[in-house]
Amino acid sequence: MNDSLADLENKHKQLVMIGGKGGVGKTTCATAIAVHFARLGRKTLVISSDPTPSLSDIFEMEIGDHQTPIAGIGGLYGIEISSDVVLNMWRERFGAEIYEVISSFADVDYDFVDYIGTAPGIEEEYMLNYILGLVESKQFDLVVWDTAPAGHTLKLLHLPQIFLKHLEAATKFYMNIYSYFEKLKETVKLQKGKRTLLEIISSWEALAIKIVDFIRDQEKSEFIIVTIPEALGVRQTERIISDFDQYELMVNHMIINNVVKEADCSFHQARKAMQTEYIKILEDKYGDRIKLIQVPLAPHEIKGVERIEQVSEILFSK
Ligand SMILES: Nc1ncnc2c1ncn2[C@@H]1O[C@H](COP(=O)(O)OP(=O)(O)O)[C@@H](O)[C@H]1O
Ligand SMILES: [Mg+2]
Repeated sequence: MNDSLADLENKHKQLVMIGGKGGVGKTTCATAIAVHFARLGRKTLVISSDPTPSLSDIFEMEIGDHQTPIAGIGGLYGIEISSDVVLNMWRERFGAEIYEVISSFADVDYDFVDYIGTAPGIEEEYMLNYILGLVESKQFDLVVWDTAPAGHTLKLLHLPQIFLKHLEAATKFYMNIYSYFEKLKETVKLQKGKRTLLEIISSWEALAIKIVDFIRDQEKSEFIIVTIPEALGVRQTERIISDFDQYELMVNHMIINNVVKEADCSFHQARKAMQTEYIKILEDKYGDRIKLIQVPLAPHEIKGVERIEQVSEILFSK
């Protein structure tokens, strides 16, 4: 029995996130899903934040960090974005603000802003913030996000915690500097910053909470796991799902990719037997609450619109 993603067609989600280990077929599935919805007439953006550029390869055209219309598929746009670009946007958004506050009581140069930018969680939070900005801009009916490999995605879930911890430490650190300069107040004339540091920090905190609320909202967003029927794939999937459970985030669909369907030699028979065991583990463990969609291993790589559409057909078969 094979499930399908077809139930997503009448749900009108705004954001579909694709996660899983590196190399399992995330980008392939993300593009197949995006192409499918574009063909249904929904204006769709597929965005990849994986450091290994891949949309360009799959669509066989240059896709950069700006919305690029995908040739041959009306209503489909692509963006490939690196964390460098995202950090730069963060710097533009918050840099001046941070600098203004800190420099109002401490003699720091602008490099200090970059130092804060390297804090754990900032990159992930800003990536999500950027993507949420695209979703909320209502330029698209649907945004399909091909996330970076699992480790990264998981970090996003812990984000508020990681982030708040960091901010706590940072706040103490800045406050120490601040009180030090406060003591010198009599001798040194200090100007007052426009916004206090705590105000800025609590606005970041609010952002983190807003982001997690959006991801948790079943009306608006959906997270799809891609895996392969092998030990590593299964183990990583278990980790992702138990993390999701912990944060009360739902996974409704799992794509099991690279499944050997026809085995006409001993090599493929052995692989098929191995895969069958792992598929059974996934079915036993999740079959009652997650739709499991098998995608066969093709004899070729998945490149170009025609082959992507073959994958769409499998994913959305009725
Ligand atoms: N079902 C499949 N059959 C054959 N090749 C596949 C299949 N799914 C993905 N591939 C190929 O595997 C490679 C990795 O896929 P990709 O989607 O880039 O993985 P990820 O984004 O998870 O790193 C690509 O060369 C892709 O064409
Ligand atoms: Mg990829």
